[in-house]
Amino acid sequence: MDFQRQTSRRLYEEHAASLLLLGRVERLFTGRAGAYPPAADDGDWPAFARTLLSAIEVEVARHFEFEERDLFPRLEEAGDGDLAALLNEEHSTIRAVAQPLVDLLRQALAGGLQAQQWQTLKTLALEFSERLGSHAQKEDGALLPLLEHLLDEDTDRELFGAYAAG
Ligand SMILES: [Fe+2]
Ligand SMILES: [Fe+2]
Repeated sequence: MDFQRQTSRRLYEEHAASLLLLGRVERLFTGRAGAYPPAADDGDWPAFARTLLSAIEVEVARHFEFEERDLFPRLEEAGDGDLAALLNEEHSTIRAVAQPLVDLLRQALAGGLQAQQWQTLKTLALEFSERLGSHAQKEDGALLPLLEHLLDEDTDRELFGAYAAG
């Protein structure tokens, strides 16, 4: 997609990175990438679990906070409060599944999951993937085109600069 605003472009890239990661989540947890639950000597699994943990706790958390703090209120002001409320609500439902998923991933990395918990981990991971995937696609289709109109060049530079600086 072609965006005029750096903010939209960055969000689009982050959504694309999330969707790629979710593709890996789905292959791994459905066993299409190898056995699930992983064998004790499977070296790829802990690396992936750590990647997923960091994506949830750092990248996704930061991305959500940015949208909630700097973008959704602007949407509301511009008369698109319904969309802002919907996207906000989706953040809550994603966080609701992300939190127990994080807890189980940590426990799995520490080597302490029972058979039933591996099953729960799989259910949570696939639910997380479905919710976040559909949310990211909805934002690509609805939020980003609006931002292109909503943000003038100066606001875009300011917002993007602050976000990129972390
Ligand atoms: Fe979002
Ligand atoms: Fe987003």
